[in-house]
Amino acid sequence: TAPSVLLNNGVRMPLLGLGMYKLWGWEDVLQAVDASLAAGYRAFDSAAVYGNEADLGRALKSLLPKYDLTREDVFITSKLGPKDQGEGAMEGALHSLSNLGMDYIDLYLIHWPGTRGLDVTDQRNPGNRAQSWAALEELHARGKLKAIGVSNYTPSHMRELMGSCKVRPAVLQVEFHPFECQAELRRVCQEFGVCFQAYSSLGRGELLTEPQVLQVAESCQRTPAQVLLRWAVQQDVPVLPKSSNPERIRENCRIFDFTLSDGDMGKLSALNRGQRFCWNPSQVV
Ligand code: A2P
Repeated sequence: TAPSVLLNNGVRMPLLGLGMYKLWGWEDVLQAVDASLAAGYRAFDSAAVYGNEADLGRALKSLLPKYDLTREDVFITSKLGPKDQGEGAMEGALHSLSNLGMDYIDLYLIHWPGTRGLDVTDQRNPGNRAQSWAALEELHARGKLKAIGVSNYTPSHMRELMGSCKVRPAVLQVEFHPFECQAELRRVCQEFGVCFQAYSSLGRGELLTEPQVLQVAESCQRTPAQVLLRWAVQQDVPVLPKSSNPERIRENCRIFDFTLSDGDMGKLSALNRGQRFCWNPSQVV
């Protein structure tokens, strides 16, 4: 069985999943999902805005039997798009379900604290987030969303949610790699019992040529991608590397058969400089 973490609602989530941002087109999705299932991935991270929910659902339907797997053997994440934040949330989530062609989604996240079309400083943002969360709570109660959570929330968005939610978020998914260690958000997650999950562990590929990363990779006879992913999972942080290349998909899952020394972990963590490669949500009120 794939290594996993236990979420605060008793649901188990694999430590490794395929990130699907920028994975487009039926042929590419089919090939990536096929290579992932063959390599042992059991989790897939999609989103309404990625535009690949329908292809993911179709690919799984056709490929699961090949690996003697059923829907229950895989963990599917998707996310509510910023255009559906607020009053469109229920419909948006139902649309994800019908796009995927599934009776339930394992984990559904609010993708972004803001609302598309509203300025980041618009005071309607908090109300829209609350309305979205209420819709997710309702679908969770109906068994349509097994776990619910958020993505790209800052510490203040998290505190706001913890102060008003009926169902606690199970997961916070944010950018996390040695250049952005997210110390405060990790503390907040610890305090509230929320699973902290990484995206862009490779810094959108930018960290693969970082000299310190190359040095650690050389010393432990692994690739830079494996070192960056191992650095996260060795801190119990689940990862979602994206690749559309079968060779790299296989490479990225070989991270559970070696350990980084404390010295190497420290060297990588010392690269922290609060540098992001993805959008920063800190301006969203
Ligand atoms: P590709 O899809 O062509 O493999 P992140 O997950 O941090 O957003 O990084 C994803 C980027 O890193 C993609 O551009 C992906 O390109 C590339 N990538 C993923 N895995 C590897 C790997 N093992 N080696 C080199 N590049 C990789």
